Amino acid sequence: MSKLTEMKSWKALEQHFEVIQNTHMRALFAADPQRFTTFSAEMGDILLDYSKNRITSESFDLLMALAREADVEGWRDNMFAGEPINISEYRPALHTALRNRSNKPVMVDGENVMPKVNRVLAQMRYFSERVRGGHWRGYSGELITDVINIGIGGSDLGPHVVCDAMKPFAQRGMNVHFVSNVDPTHLTEILKFVKPESCLFIISSKSFTTQETMMNAHSAREWFVNVTNNESAVARHFVAVTTNKEKATEFGVLSENMFEFWDWVGGRYSLWSAIGLPIVLYLGMDRFEEMLDGAHAMDMHFKSTPLERNIPVILAMLGIWYNNFFDAQSHAVISYNQYLRRLPAHLQQLDMESNGKTINRQGERVDYLTGPIIWGETGSNCQHAFFQLLHQGTKPVPADFMIPARTRNPLRGQHRVLLANFFAQTQALMKGKTEAEALAELQTEGLSAEKIAEVLPHKIFEGNKPTNSIMFDKLDPRTLGAILAMYEHKVFVQGVIWNINSFDQWGVEYGKKLAGHIHDTLLTRSVSDDYDSSTNGLIQHYYQLRFGDEN
Ligand code: F6P
Repeated sequence: MSKLTEMKSWKALEQHFEVIQNTHMRALFAADPQRFTTFSAEMGDILLDYSKNRITSESFDLLMALAREADVEGWRDNMFAGEPINISEYRPALHTALRNRSNKPVMVDGENVMPKVNRVLAQMRYFSERVRGGHWRGYSGELITDVINIGIGGSDLGPHVVCDAMKPFAQRGMNVHFVSNVDPTHLTEILKFVKPESCLFIISSKSFTTQETMMNAHSAREWFVNVTNNESAVARHFVAVTTNKEKATEFGVLSENMFEFWDWVGGRYSLWSAIGLPIVLYLGMDRFEEMLDGAHAMDMHFKSTPLERNIPVILAMLGIWYNNFFDAQSHAVISYNQYLRRLPAHLQQLDMESNGKTINRQGERVDYLTGPIIWGETGSNCQHAFFQLLHQGTKPVPADFMIPARTRNPLRGQHRVLLANFFAQTQALMKGKTEAEALAELQTEGLSAEKIAEVLPHKIFEGNKPTNSIMFDKLDPRTLGAILAMYEHKVFVQGVIWNINSFDQWGVEYGKKLAGHIHDTLLTRSVSDDYDSSTNGLIQHYYQLRFGDEN
């Protein structure tokens, strides 16, 4: 594959950008009354309206040409087929096998992995039905009422966003908590409100070596044994989700209470695996499988739909357009749905840990921008936080807006107000407000000519701010599964275009290693000649604050 910036379609996009960069979307909408229909795509009840983007049909065709020239379809087929596309770890990336509801064989090193995928799903179903049905009780006979997931990154964020989003489907009396931060406050503030005899701890860690998770797990174990004075009860209150059975056994988890997954599942793509155990305990296995169904439907859409109508591909290529041609540094995800408030946190790891890379597949430094900064908040809150910048700032921020047509909480017409804001914000971002429109408004307010002249410049909105609008009927497990899979495939397609490996994460290792050295330094209340003056200065300031009064 030729270098990205030397591709024919890339060069055509560069030329096209020069022509279109100052075209206003107002003009594009005026020129095509059917623009919404032209630039919309559907998958099930999910609608993607991408008409409020700075594209013409020519732009769109050139972006699709780039996707083809970068062989997105070939890489997609390789991923689904279990090819070792994670080149630096020599592994496949087969999160799609975890939700392969067709049960057609998926081969890894000559083995069909579906039997073991299904075995773990059956184990999750059996275990969750025993816990939720009251057959699995605590050591003193109490029902399990509080599931505490101890994990971080992909062993936390995915299950966490799902449990938050699916609250309406949760079993009454079953609470789920997520502990991830090594900051002792995180675990402490949860243990204050639960009883050990009705707790079930899930230690979720692919490696079972992650520092934060293991410290929290041992602290939780220590709390449990101290409060119950019953070491033998640990086995009934701690289960493990991991690829590392040996380490889990060392911790004291019984083998029958271990839920395995495999190294061809990346952490940030693992919520569909046994890492989803807190979801299953909270919502029940049927709901979890509905979520798998939704993700599988999106997988089939991604796998078989022509690029021009392929929602993950469209989202990905529009992101390339803004990231690499409009120099947008970030991408916002604005869910007009309070249940999705944790979606940006999950998408941050999914996107930024996948595509926050500088070295391409050939080991060379890229000469173009790769992964964007992902951020976001729920609407309508964001309108009172950062929308000023989106409307009148100097930085372009392409954004995804999403909303269910129907709310689960009908309350005095408030969802209709939310919808109105959803529709209005993307309209305002697209059309802006011209000087003439702003002047006309001010003149109706009875302001003096002098005051109008003073305030007028501040009332003008450039507009031409691109957004995608994603709408679906209601937020349920199936739709949520489809949306999460949609973003996984968007990230994958962008990684293909940027010719980077989206499935390793070497960048997270270095800081951890330094932290280990510095922790040893702190234990001896010393500093190190190996450290820079800032690190030593900060450490010494800490000693002064913490221990100064002891001297
Ligand atoms: O952030 C680095 C990382 O390895 C993530 O990729 C992973 O999801 C997280 O740490 C937790 O890893 P583990 O599941 O092995 O504890």
